[in-house]
Amino acid sequence: NEWTRELRYQPYDSWHTDYTQQLKNTVKKAPWRLDYHVQPNTGLLNDPNGFSYFNNKWHLFYQYYPFGPVHGLKSWYHLTSDNLIDWVNEGVAIEPTNQFDSHGVYSGTALPIDDSLFLAYSGNVRDENWQRKSYQLGAKMSKEGHMQKLEHPLIDFPIKGYTDHVRDPQIIPYEEGYLMILGAQDTNEKGQVILFQSENLTNWEFIGNLDYADEEMGFMVECPNLLFIEEKPLLIFCPQGLNKNVLPYDNIYPNTYILGSDFDLKTVTIKDATPLQQLDYGFDVYATQAFTNNNNRHLSVSWVGLPEVDYPSFKDGWAHCLSLVKELTIRNGKLHQFPIAETKELRQDKQLIEGTLSSENQILTQPKNNSYELNLSFDANSSGVIHLMRDESLDKSFKLTFDTKLGKLIVDRGQVGVPFAEAFGTTRELELTKYSSLELDIFVDQSIIEIFVNKGSEVITSRVFPNSNQTNLKIEGQGGSYFGTMYSLRKMK
Ligand code: FRU
Repeated sequence: NEWTRELRYQPYDSWHTDYTQQLKNTVKKAPWRLDYHVQPNTGLLNDPNGFSYFNNKWHLFYQYYPFGPVHGLKSWYHLTSDNLIDWVNEGVAIEPTNQFDSHGVYSGTALPIDDSLFLAYSGNVRDENWQRKSYQLGAKMSKEGHMQKLEHPLIDFPIKGYTDHVRDPQIIPYEEGYLMILGAQDTNEKGQVILFQSENLTNWEFIGNLDYADEEMGFMVECPNLLFIEEKPLLIFCPQGLNKNVLPYDNIYPNTYILGSDFDLKTVTIKDATPLQQLDYGFDVYATQAFTNNNNRHLSVSWVGLPEVDYPSFKDGWAHCLSLVKELTIRNGKLHQFPIAETKELRQDKQLIEGTLSSENQILTQPKNNSYELNLSFDANSSGVIHLMRDESLDKSFKLTFDTKLGKLIVDRGQVGVPFAEAFGTTRELELTKYSSLELDIFVDQSIIEIFVNKGSEVITSRVFPNSNQTNLKIEGQGGSYFGTMYSLRKMK
């Protein structure tokens, strides 16, 4: 069937249970379903929302369209966890119901306030001419899980100086009150990050455009996150239509960050900001959400999927997943992202891997299936290829080519199962420090590969859709030796 606008915006309760049951069955039988990543039961998942710790549990929500692998009428789907690894599906938590969010409960964040979890999100509304209106809204979730939308918008539409593209509120405690950080498009059609301030979460005062870069940030900024790590401001965001002279990138839209030395609210400035950098060097990361919990842990999770790109799983009625939960730290003045220590809970049997790089090298330990963790270290003078998801007879694989002398790392997903998004290229390249040893922590889960380079100094995330016989592992190369460990990983409980 064709996903007309009418169909995509049909109310949830108008879908027949025969249809939804059939969709569930199709997805249950689908290949490429993940073992330990958050994925939708049916339909489409996009941005992580409301990542928080409240009432002795971790809470995570995501943008959800239940009825097919398309961007339709969005709601927030709710998950809870005791350990940030095993997530319990709690169902749809915020649905579009009223004049402020009738055409989508869009992205936002959550903050525990007194006895409830305060949720801030964008309400997407279309009028009869399909003209957009965008409200910034609030809701409160009680300890028992009861959700109550606030009666009045936190921020009304329109905002002077900006178009109808204003969304994705992040609320953070700041001094005695709160800041709201929003992605926006100004009336000159430039992407901006804008700030509001409030003492009580009810009345919000406009502060202005955040000054964090000399360059223009395309035509729109989505999903901004402002964090303070060791008092240094970190801004993670998604500029759309960014000029490739500002930052070379191949994905349709990049997820990026800058790190500053100081934040000044009076001048609305992040001082001494680094040049814009890619948050992820792979093919699929977008809309990363990060927050600081009350133990001062900085955690993030990304949508692994991109807007306006088709993925092979669409044919089975589901789309996209979330990344592993990552811990953010600053080391040697640089942002590092690494899977949280709790990820070790997934480990099953351990096997040591050791060898000398040569052209015949065949790794002796073969993974049982595409669900494992592989930690590898290479000498400063080595080069080679790690083949993941290799097909024994045809030698097709996901290739990770490295050369520590030249300081290069290239990933190639062009030879894995069902090709997709080829218009954006099938390889990605990362520059490394020349003549340095290389450490890789690789997480493989059926249709996703997350590669953490040098303990999270860089991350390379890729969706891949292998054929069923692509489960082998091979390492080949020259110069020096390698050693490491491989763990098979269990399924999410
Ligand atoms: C980013 C985004 C957000 C929006 C949401 C809608 O992927 O476009 O800007 O709030 O998705 O699902």
